[in-house]
Amino acid sequence: MNQELKTAGFDGMTVVSFESRLSDVMGESILRYGGVPILAPSMQEIPLDRNPEAFAFADRLFAGDVDVIIFMTGVGVRMLVKTLETRSSRQDLAAALSRITTLARGPKPVQALRELGVIPSLTVPEPNTWREILETLDTSFRGVSLEGKTVAVQEYGVSSEPLIAGLKKRGAAVLLVPVYRWALPDDTRPLEEALEALIQGRVQLAFFTSAMQIRHVLKLASAKGLENSLRKSFRDVVVASVGPTCSETLRECGLSVDFEPTHPKMGHLVAEAARLSAELVRQKKQGITEFRLEERSRDVELEARRRRLESPFLKACRREKVPYTPVWLMRQAGRYMKEYRRLRERVSFLEFCKNKEFCAQAAIEAQQILNTDAAILFSDILLITEPLGFGLSYGAGEGPVISGDTQGSAWIDRIPEVDPRDSLGYVMDAVRLTRRCLKTEIPLIGFSGAPFTTAAYILEGGGSRHFLETKKFMFRDPAAWHALMEKITRALARYLNAQIEAGADCLQIFDSWVGCLSPEDFRRFVLPHSRALVKEVSGKGVPVIHFGTGTGSFLELFAQAGADVVGVDFHIELAEAWKRIGYDLAIQGNLDPALLLATPEAFKEQALRILDQAAGRPGHIFNVGHGILPVTPVDHVRLLVDTVHSFQIP
Ligand code: CP3
Repeated sequence: MNQELKTAGFDGMTVVSFESRLSDVMGESILRYGGVPILAPSMQEIPLDRNPEAFAFADRLFAGDVDVIIFMTGVGVRMLVKTLETRSSRQDLAAALSRITTLARGPKPVQALRELGVIPSLTVPEPNTWREILETLDTSFRGVSLEGKTVAVQEYGVSSEPLIAGLKKRGAAVLLVPVYRWALPDDTRPLEEALEALIQGRVQLAFFTSAMQIRHVLKLASAKGLENSLRKSFRDVVVASVGPTCSETLRECGLSVDFEPTHPKMGHLVAEAARLSAELVRQKKQGITEFRLEERSRDVELEARRRRLESPFLKACRREKVPYTPVWLMRQAGRYMKEYRRLRERVSFLEFCKNKEFCAQAAIEAQQILNTDAAILFSDILLITEPLGFGLSYGAGEGPVISGDTQGSAWIDRIPEVDPRDSLGYVMDAVRLTRRCLKTEIPLIGFSGAPFTTAAYILEGGGSRHFLETKKFMFRDPAAWHALMEKITRALARYLNAQIEAGADCLQIFDSWVGCLSPEDFRRFVLPHSRALVKEVSGKGVPVIHFGTGTGSFLELFAQAGADVVGVDFHIELAEAWKRIGYDLAIQGNLDPALLLATPEAFKEQALRILDQAAGRPGHIFNVGHGILPVTPVDHVRLLVDTVHSFQIP
């Protein structure tokens, strides 16, 4: 063995693994990294043959008397199905489960449910502990509405006390559905031999991959009168735990946790412990424990971000080659989606935007339902007008209204220098929560209005057809106009940078109304400010998309603002637009959203035309040319995403 390989792995150290079902896999993996494994399976699952609780649950499920079910393990799902299949058909079971809210704790129950033909309504982000389960439920039910609901919990061996307590605290009636219990393996000799090796000081590392293993190991040790010696032995052995739940149990049992990998997976546990084994053993000898646990969440975040940088969407922003054209859609979360309407029923739009749980739910749900390659923060470009000192309301029907004095020019001096970190703190909260709950591989787009569109909304007091107030002000008093634009630009720059700090992976600047200007007016009155804004937020590893509608007459100028990606609407052919902005920029667009109101044939044909026009050049992000319309059928949008994904890039 060469020196390099030796130091990269366990280098002949002895490693005890208590994993049971995947004991062999662990053994091979430890060997591969140069360790000497002692395999000590510590438990077996025993199905409950007579399981009255499971049938009682099924009766209530079929009677429509269960609102939510939490599936904790894949093995549990399969065993439960097997038990219930003796009385009802799989189809009936799948149909009944599809009618209620199903929550899968992690990828294994998701997989087991898929086999049954059930797509879980909710999935829980890593590290999949009871905390994330409760947070996921809180995000989708706003905490309060679990009140009076019946929540079934598929148990696995032991009850999760904190989960049950958390559900009860939220007013839920908890229905426990046991499916199996744990026991020591039939043959406990390997486990006894491992205990002996530990006690004799022949072991350097011990791997725990589930919470129950710890209790079983201690139980057996105690039965053999070895508990004290075993506990003492753990003072010299590096105790590695697969994840937070396991670590919590170790600590509850009075054992220290020396190492936890960046992801709660067996593969990560072995690979990372192998890499750090020499250091871990050295630190343990010096009495340093909890190695890297403090840094764990930071490490996890960094690692996730590294993986996200390789997503098709962010690669396309950098004009790198991608396996398929990434797609997301402006206004992908909105009124055309019943899930959004249902959430939105409860509060006004402004209140909705100020509630991070609503925002996160809307953004994440849209991404999941459509399977887009990015999620966009749920928020609105007009929110910044409030801290700038204007009144903002979204009246039903007539669109947004922005009130405040815009007579003369003295009002510009009265606009405060805002720090959106404070005054729009709720947006940053939404960015953080959305980022935490969104699938780790999916990038999150933060956004704001562009200086021009923001100024136009303020001057018009809302939407407008001809933007006469804006133009009048701009042409009459250019100095005042530039002063206003500078002030808005500074606020927007701080706002977007705060979104980056809160976790946005990409930014989009919406210049929705800039197309009302002539090329020369754009160059004089707008471009310097857009350019200043882009410059302030660029160079941070977060690509900037600059979107404008009606920019066809000055696209070359528009592209000079300096963004990484230019978003174009459907008034121009994509091929022409790309040629004009130059192939050193990425492009986003540009299906007419009205096509989604027509037939699938119609929008598919146009989507393929657009994809053809990209001509296999890296750097195309598919999108609509303007936001999705409220009357759009969701099925069409989903079909569009599939069409883009299955297009073979030439
Ligand atoms: O998935 C998403 O894109 C949702 C996030 C989002 C919203 N608005 C939510 C929203 C984004 C990115 C925006 C941007 C936005 N807001 C723009 C730029 C994009 C564009 O369409 O040009 C503009 C001009 C606004 C201003 C705005 N907000 C208007 C004119 C309106 C009312 C008219 C309308 O389209 O509904 C809004 C309200 C608004 N913003 C809604 C949503 C989902 C509808 C509010 C509701 O639920 O009634």
